[in-house]
Amino acid sequence: MAETVFQQCIDPACGGTADLRDTAFRCPRCGGLLDVAYDWNRLPVPTSLKHFEAKAANRSNPLDFSGVWRFRELLPFAPEPALVTIGEGQTLCQRADAVAQYVGLNVGGLFLQYEGMNPSGSFKDNGMCAAFTHARLTGATRAACASTGNTSASLAVYAAASDTRAIVFIGSGKISYGKLSQALEHGALTVQIEGDFDDALGRVQEVSRQLGIYLVNSVNPFRLEGQKAIMYRVLEALQWEVPDWVVVPGGNLGNVSSFAKAFSELHALGLIARVPRLAVINAAGANTFYHLHENHGLRWNGGQFDRAKIDTYYAALDASGRKPDTLASAIEINRPVNLPKALRALDRCNGVVRAVPDTDMLDAKAKVGAGGLGCEPASAASVAGLRELVREGVIDKAVRVVCVLTGHLLKDPDETVAYHSADAALFDAKLGARGVKQVAFANRAVRVPNDLTEIVRAIERRA
Ligand code: F0G
Repeated sequence: MAETVFQQCIDPACGGTADLRDTAFRCPRCGGLLDVAYDWNRLPVPTSLKHFEAKAANRSNPLDFSGVWRFRELLPFAPEPALVTIGEGQTLCQRADAVAQYVGLNVGGLFLQYEGMNPSGSFKDNGMCAAFTHARLTGATRAACASTGNTSASLAVYAAASDTRAIVFIGSGKISYGKLSQALEHGALTVQIEGDFDDALGRVQEVSRQLGIYLVNSVNPFRLEGQKAIMYRVLEALQWEVPDWVVVPGGNLGNVSSFAKAFSELHALGLIARVPRLAVINAAGANTFYHLHENHGLRWNGGQFDRAKIDTYYAALDASGRKPDTLASAIEINRPVNLPKALRALDRCNGVVRAVPDTDMLDAKAKVGAGGLGCEPASAASVAGLRELVREGVIDKAVRVVCVLTGHLLKDPDETVAYHSADAALFDAKLGARGVKQVAFANRAVRVPNDLTEIVRAIERRA
């Protein structure tokens, strides 16, 4: 009899499968990406999503407290005693009216899903608890990733909490100190290679294969199972009403792939009546997905997507020596590993891709911050991209939109300080040198002599 849970090639024409415990994370038949697949007919599926609300109140059970595992019936690949949690997913989907006005939506139309509240400060923990659960099923004692910073921070935290050896590959120079400090502080073996994230991701896959180390990059489909919970929490916050659009930054394209899987499964199970539309926002300096989808017309095409278009594009990148370049270091990626899955995601959810310049991201970030939520530059790509889509008329101003804020402000404070600084040299060094000429919402510190009268006057003039 076929297994209830297994791994399945995303290409319907291939039909390759792998055992639940397999850790190659590549289709054994064609080398393509894998999904975690379930035979839902043989699993206990709730008849209504409301079922999950009661669990949120049961704080004494760590699995119900987890914002991922309280939805465990929707990612049922491991028995309860194997589930790993450190309290991930206590995040909120908050209505953000001032930001709605900034992007051109009606008041009440925008919600921000704030993933900076996770234990390691980014959305990665949603997927890492699931990857560590799978790692435990397979008996792994070492886990590795390549990272622009957040995956490595999350891996380091989960490894430290579960007696696993963490090995982190980072490129040279680009990782923010907030994120690097997490990998180092939590004891990860940190390997800095000459090259960028795309180089590091290539190497970590080779090394993991050679040394039998468990890989936690988002090519690992179990990570993406955990990230489905971000969308379950969005639905929960909206009282199970499906939003019209979900907007998400695009780097390695794991989130968009995971979100579409979450919605397609809920739809197939009859738990939601429709799926939302998805928008993926690249940085203009790392815009492979935007180029291929919007300019070159690359489509999923039932799994028969035009690989030659991708190969030609990558060959052109190599020939010109063009490297990704954006202040949003988290998404500074030219070769997104989940590209085929993301094509499928856009096909399933009628999606679009846009690319936004760094200046727009930083301004959107400042607006989000002024509204009370601190996010890192890459996260604000979602808000900057939404603004562009409203301006174009692709997103109507009267609809309901959720933007995902993927990481915390304190992950990457240097650019924020430079953004608000009156110090021209600092601005130039951090932002000007990277192409940012002017910013819209700087909140400058006020210099005042150490004199009570002057201090009082300075405050009364401004507040
Ligand atoms: N936002 C942040 C803050 C990220 O750290 C990442 C990815 C993304 C968005 C993009 O998400 O890959 O699902 O499209 N960071 C990875 C890392 C690459 O290594 O931390 P995606």
